[in-house]
Amino acid sequence: MKVLVIGSGGREHALVWALSRSRRVSQVVCAPGNAGIASLARLAPVNQKDLDDLLRVAAAEAPDLVVVGPELPLSLGLCDELTRRGIPVFGPTRKAALLESSKGFAKQFMQRRSIPTAAYAVAHSEKAALQALDLFHLPVVVKADGLASGKGVVVCESRREAADAIAGLFGGGLLGAAERAVVLEEFLSGEELSFLTLTDGRSVSPLPPAQDHKRAGEGDTGPNTGGMGVYSTDGMLDPSMREWILQHIALRAVEGMRDEGSPFCGVLYCGLMMTPRGPMVLEFNARFGDPETQALLVRLESDLAEVLEACVEGRLQETPLQWKPGSSACVIAASEGYPGNYPTGRLITGLDAAAAMPGVQIFHSGSAWMDDRLVTAGGRVLGVTALGSTLEQSLARAYEAMGSIHFEGMHYRRDIGRRSSEFR
Ligand code: AMP
Ligand code: GLY
Repeated sequence: MKVLVIGSGGREHALVWALSRSRRVSQVVCAPGNAGIASLARLAPVNQKDLDDLLRVAAAEAPDLVVVGPELPLSLGLCDELTRRGIPVFGPTRKAALLESSKGFAKQFMQRRSIPTAAYAVAHSEKAALQALDLFHLPVVVKADGLASGKGVVVCESRREAADAIAGLFGGGLLGAAERAVVLEEFLSGEELSFLTLTDGRSVSPLPPAQDHKRAGEGDTGPNTGGMGVYSTDGMLDPSMREWILQHIALRAVEGMRDEGSPFCGVLYCGLMMTPRGPMVLEFNARFGDPETQALLVRLESDLAEVLEACVEGRLQETPLQWKPGSSACVIAASEGYPGNYPTGRLITGLDAAAAMPGVQIFHSGSAWMDDRLVTAGGRVLGVTALGSTLEQSLARAYEAMGSIHFEGMHYRRDIGRRSSEFR
């Protein structure tokens, strides 16, 4: 079969890598892809923000399956339009993807379906938000309602800070034009956990648990980023807690969406805070995580194409997922200045030596070819990923590989995985 993957980051490189290993897949096309993906798939240029352009590429390629990586095409209704044209697609409809694209929708949905989440208020004007602010203890979390690539969340220590964040959101360009809203939320403390599941709209299959590191700096300091590294081990979630999360969060959400007439097919990513009151949902994403996917897919034993196809065809229950035991880790090499402004076009060296190390897989997030030279082309540049029988081994392998890679201004966090109980 021929598969078309939409997207251009490390997540899509990992998807293309896993799909290209499938017995069922004869051809992978990636639109638009990046320099790393080009070694595994044919690239098709596309403007990912333009629904018509995405549909043009899908019609021209006539794939047997489309796999959508990022959230924006989902929120534009790409899956709805592809289904209408008879092209099989793995990903939720626009309405189902509201679980990610509208935090207000997600919070109200969780309240209706008794899914544990922080106390909240949704406000459609600055005045209403300032009034609602009085209902919250400090710190309080202020969030933009729509998609904001991780930039729409501010944890505020004082009312003044919260008022400034609210004014900034209503006055700035982050809130969508259609329905301008902010969500105020109770601050939760605990360990964060990325609990990704695959679903066909009825049954739900969990991926191994993972922990992302969202802050730019070591010790979880500095600004929020798309994710600076992630690790996954079986031991980070005991089986009874995993089952609880599956039943009370993931399955409840999937059943709820079906009951409410918007069945959800695709990846339901539950971003959780493991609080003293139990697991609570910080956010839902309607897609694979980045960089979670890089660390998770290296652990997948099953044939990814078969599993995704089973989701699309409503046969997930008959298709159990097999995972390699042990651990994996992915450390992001980022450009100087990321998550702020950063330069591009810097020469990347040392990749061949790094990729040859045992258990190591390098996924490109932001790279390009320039006159036969591999150069940086994004804020997150590479996801240096490694498998190991223990977390310590996978981290040691990833950092050893990182040590042989170089580009000017490259930086990475040296403390990925250090919060794990395996180190305490
Ligand atoms: P979100 O996009 O909603 O997942 O928020 C981005 C990040 O902000 C999360 O990964 C958390 O680190 C932090 N965050 C969001 N909501 C809360 C909350 N209610 N309490 C504490 N931290 C939060
Ligand atoms: N790693 C966080 C995300 O994909 O949203």
